[in-house]
Amino acid sequence: MIAERIRLTGRTVIVSGAGGGGIGTTCARGLLEAGATVLGVDRDAERLAAIEAELADSTGTQDSTGPADSAGPVGPRGTLRTVCADVSTAEGVATVLERAAAAPGELYGLVNVVGGSLLPHWAPALDFDRAQWDESFELNLHHVMWLSQAVARHLVAHESPGSIVTINSTGGVVAAPYHVGYGTAKAAVLGLTRTLALEWGRYGIRVNGIAAGSITTPRATAAAQDPELAGRGVPLRRRGTPADVAAAVLFLISDLSAYTTGAVIPVEGGALHRLGLFDEDNVPVHVTNPQILVRIHGDAPD
Ligand SMILES: NC(=O)c1ccc[n+]([C@@H]2O[C@H](COP(=O)([O-])OP(=O)(O)OC[C@H]3O[C@@H](n4cnc5c(N)ncnc54)[C@H](O)[C@@H]3O)[C@@H](O)[C@H]2O)c1
Repeated sequence: MIAERIRLTGRTVIVSGAGGGGIGTTCARGLLEAGATVLGVDRDAERLAAIEAELADSTGTQDSTGPADSAGPVGPRGTLRTVCADVSTAEGVATVLERAAAAPGELYGLVNVVGGSLLPHWAPALDFDRAQWDESFELNLHHVMWLSQAVARHLVAHESPGSIVTINSTGGVVAAPYHVGYGTAKAAVLGLTRTLALEWGRYGIRVNGIAAGSITTPRATAAAQDPELAGRGVPLRRRGTPADVAAAVLFLISDLSAYTTGAVIPVEGGALHRLGLFDEDNVPVHVTNPQILVRIHGDAPD
């Protein structure tokens, strides 16, 4: 059955940034529901402890190391393990790989979720400083390379196929004004995804990404919760949910996408498709010919 391809039983998938409570946690939940052994990674021990409780209903067994040690219930779904590690360091990456190799499933996948931007990273490029630039690249790009490489080295050494998915952003696909560090780092992640896909295809390792639009997470701003503002500029007229992202991750990580690599799937309600020359009602703002405007509006606009 084609739908069976989603099953991840016997496979271990690492999720970096699993403790965020939004995209990473929901990706972990979806992977557990598909039967995977999930190794949830976060540098924040408190957040890891919180997701162990949150995901208990999606797991068959639960196990962890580091400051958040606990054992959980046994049931029919996947197995959750957690490890407190900083993936921006070589030691952190080594710890993650060690734990993944010791997990009950065979190491198969990686979902790179760690990323984002801090408030000071919203600034005009004219004012941007080196610290903001370096932090943006540290948070969004470097760990994707080193953690992906570590996983791929393990897979190649074991002659195992695998799948890597990185959560990217619409800001990495098109320009990100006043967000130059984040947008440029995410654009680099896009290039990295495509390059790794080409190099690692021969080993049966697929590398894909997701261009997420505005996704409502626990840390979304108040404006994001406002129904009036929430769907502005989005053809589907709403913000995305972590589950929207997790569903695309399940497609890309599993054998459902067995012949897809180097792809970056938009999960943005269609927002990337609208050229700036069209307003939210799809009316071309650059057209002044009354005959065309009458054909669009059915009547001449004011
Ligand atoms: N939320 C959105 O609207 C949105 C839109 C587009 C793309 N994205 C992307 O989705 C991803 C997740 O975003 P989010 O808003 O859910 O993030 P988040 O901040 O809620 O979660 C990220 C998690 O990563 C952890 N983390 C950060 N640095 C780490 C490190 N070095 N080692 C280990 N753990 C670390 C944090 O502790 C946190 O729990 C990011 O890559 C972001 O760029 C988000």
